[in-house]
Amino acid sequence: MMNFTTLAVDDRDDRVTVRLNRPDKRNAIDQAMVDELHTVCGELERRPRPMLLTGGADGVFAAGADIGQLRDRTSADALRAINSGLFNRIRALPMPTIAAIDGPALGGGAELSYACDIRLCTTRSFFGQPEARLGIIAGAGATWRLPALVGESLAKELLFTGRRMAADEALRAGLVSDVVEPEALLDRADALLTDIGKAAPMALRLTKLAVNSGGDAHPHVELAAQALLFDSEEKHDRMTKFLNR
Ligand code: COA
Repeated sequence: MMNFTTLAVDDRDDRVTVRLNRPDKRNAIDQAMVDELHTVCGELERRPRPMLLTGGADGVFAAGADIGQLRDRTSADALRAINSGLFNRIRALPMPTIAAIDGPALGGGAELSYACDIRLCTTRSFFGQPEARLGIIAGAGATWRLPALVGESLAKELLFTGRRMAADEALRAGLVSDVVEPEALLDRADALLTDIGKAAPMALRLTKLAVNSGGDAHPHVELAAQALLFDSEEKHDRMTKFLNR
């Protein structure tokens, strides 16, 4: 995963950190970035590990889809689900994902963060969905993930107006789970991943599957997952360790 032009990837045994890396274009998501993020997803599907997704040190998470490319896209391009297909793949990654957001997360950049399991941001972050003002809809998650995250009323207000929501409001609305100073962001995200890493990997994977399942799947997914885990050696070892402590 070394030869990327739009990403900088730190690939470790216990986590993969992905930094969006088009600072000149404020990390606007173009086709090359979509392709490279698919490559990262492929690697994380083959060898599941948590992912930390961030925008880098320049104070921008992502300015949305690349408007230079977006302007020329046709109906056939829209039906190829370029961003929504990628974000669904990220949402379905086997292990937990954290979006560590500094500065703006706009349009498709915000939707990219909604596809992650957990969002952390900084005091100078803001979120917005300006798509309708550009004559399109927010087609890659904001019309269904944002209402699930913050409620329908606030989601629709943001989608209809394009208003930029600041970090403190995002925290109150439950869109992010913490707001920190910019210089503390990556440490906070790394510490959270370290904490998550104390859980049994298969329990984490199945917990994520259960939470991501649709309403009709409950509690069947949980029953099947629990049945698998109840017979696992890891569960027995962890519980024995607790009882013998
Ligand atoms: N697509 C393509 N290029 C983008 C972009 C986008 N979504 N967002 C920013 N850029 C480019 C600008 O065109 C500019 O390029 P140039 O230097 O070649 O002229 C460069 O990135 C810097 O942008 P600038 O607006 O000067 O940076 P800023 O730091 O003042 O503001 C933002 C940053 C993110 C607040 C601002 O760029 C912005 O609002 N971007 C558009 C967001 C948007 O509408 N996204 C929705 C897409 S669906």
